[in-house]
Amino acid sequence: MTFDRKIKIAPSILSADFADFGREIQAIEAEGCDWVHVDVMDGHFVPNLTFGPPLLKAIRPHIKTVMDVHLMIAPVDPYIDAYAEAGADILTAHLEAGPHIHRTLQAIRGAGCKAGLALNPGTGLDAVAHLLDMIDLVCVMTVNPGFGGQKFIYSQIEKVRSLRSLIGDRPIHIEIDGGMTPETAPLMAAAGADVFVAGSGVFKGGSVNNAAVYGENIRAIRSAAEAAL
Ligand code: DX5
Ligand code: ZN
Repeated sequence: MTFDRKIKIAPSILSADFADFGREIQAIEAEGCDWVHVDVMDGHFVPNLTFGPPLLKAIRPHIKTVMDVHLMIAPVDPYIDAYAEAGADILTAHLEAGPHIHRTLQAIRGAGCKAGLALNPGTGLDAVAHLLDMIDLVCVMTVNPGFGGQKFIYSQIEKVRSLRSLIGDRPIHIEIDGGMTPETAPLMAAAGADVFVAGSGVFKGGSVNNAAVYGENIRAIRSAAEAAL
């Protein structure tokens, strides 16, 4: 993976057809997405349960772009190697998931993945300043993690603005996750974000047999975000 700050759209397969991940992934990539976002939930850190390492391993061959894995699990450390071996390019752990985020980020890079740090809407940036040399991405949650289709939390715009100035010239992506639409994405692009996760925003109205809709949704979010730069 090379680093740049171009606008990237990362559809979350949480909103895809769970019985047809292979074709869903091929469809969103053919329609122009940049990364594929995979939401891992444990029914403990968040009140929902999704994908284990064998599922990621099964879908990995279908992903030609970047497998962006968002771990909403606690504890994280015992599972890092399994998710890395399943083929994650980026492994993102939550700051709130345990007392030893520094160790977790070390372990993620040690397993050969890019390291992401996710922040819940109620979490501030204080800790990020001490972790800047260990992270490749900060994921700012603009919904409370656990479910797709929730409303964007506007108070996170100011957080992203502060995060962007904290990051400076460092090669660290700012990813926004939750409630992304052509209306909300430009607000975050203007504040300094470059990666836009969208579940319902990409998959709504389409299907593998009507994938042109995915393309329209991806282009609508991308062009709205680019227009704000
Ligand atoms: C929420 C997940 C998100 C979710 C986004 O816990 O981390 O990635 O799928 O879904 P939308 O875009 O529908 O808000
Ligand atoms: Zn996510």
